[in-house]
Amino acid sequence: MGLENFKWAIVTGGSSGIGREFVLELSKRGLNVMATGRDEKRLKDLEKEVKEKFGVEIVTHVVDLSLPQNVKKFVQDVSEFEIDLLVNNAGFGLYDEFVKLELEEIENMIEVNVKTLTILSHHFARKMVERQRGGIINVSSIAGYIPLPYFNAYAATKAYVYNLSLALWAELKKYGVHVLCVSPGPTKTRFFERAFKSQDLRTFGSLMDPRRVVTGALEAFEKRRPVYVPGFKNRLIVMVTRKLLSDRLIARFMAG
Ligand SMILES: NC(=O)c1ccc[n+]([C@@H]2O[C@H](COP(=O)([O-])OP(=O)(O)OC[C@H]3O[C@@H](n4cnc5c(N)ncnc54)[C@H](OP(=O)(O)O)[C@@H]3O)[C@@H](O)[C@H]2O)c1
Repeated sequence: MGLENFKWAIVTGGSSGIGREFVLELSKRGLNVMATGRDEKRLKDLEKEVKEKFGVEIVTHVVDLSLPQNVKKFVQDVSEFEIDLLVNNAGFGLYDEFVKLELEEIENMIEVNVKTLTILSHHFARKMVERQRGGIINVSSIAGYIPLPYFNAYAATKAYVYNLSLALWAELKKYGVHVLCVSPGPTKTRFFERAFKSQDLRTFGSLMDPRRVVTGALEAFEKRRPVYVPGFKNRLIVMVTRKLLSDRLIARFMAG
């Protein structure tokens, strides 16, 4: 499925990290992009960069996607645009013992990572099915393949994203709509700042460049792959945890 036939893409969480790279790479390939985020300054800077470098259209929306009324309004605001590609990238993680996390924070995370992704997928998939073309890229995580103590609820949201994406990939194929699930490992973005809060980030090891995640994902999308795990090390982790170890063993080992 060639991206060259696509005119407009939406990238949620385009203000930072992996989403920002999606905006830049898609603009570079000639797509017009609609990017969301909460950080207005970062979005405006991105808008300027895209216009100067690539000369495509870019529209930015400052929107907190943890609030259902905002998601509804966002869908209404973009209703005039024919969206060919939806990149459900906005998301965040929470790292701590489940009982030490604030319930409100967990609920917000489920809203963004699960509910908003589902609402947007449902809305735009329907339109794509009517037109018999389009694509959805959902950003999951290698954490979505395993029960992960301390990333407990976050990993569970990403398991949802993985399973929904694959089901949609199989369902929407016949309508000419392609769905790709991207499952990155640790990547150099602001993700860990938010997830770990005051805890030491250095313990997490080497981090992948987000551009690598995105260029690989777009290549996988064009090859109509259903799943993309960037990097050999991450693919090895997924393979070993899924095929060779039991979920119970992984959970107990990771709990320390
Ligand atoms: N980095 C990793 O190691 C890693 C690994 C696997 C999967 N992922 C996934 O990759 C995706 C992108 O994260 P990232 O690593 O690029 O982290 P990031 O740099 O923190 O970017 C997260 C993006 O999501 C947006 N976002 C978060 N909460 C939001 C909310 N309530 N409403 C609207 N937008 C919101 C942020 O917007 P604002 O900053 O403007 O609020 C930002 O644009 C996430 O789904 C994450 O789970 C990341």
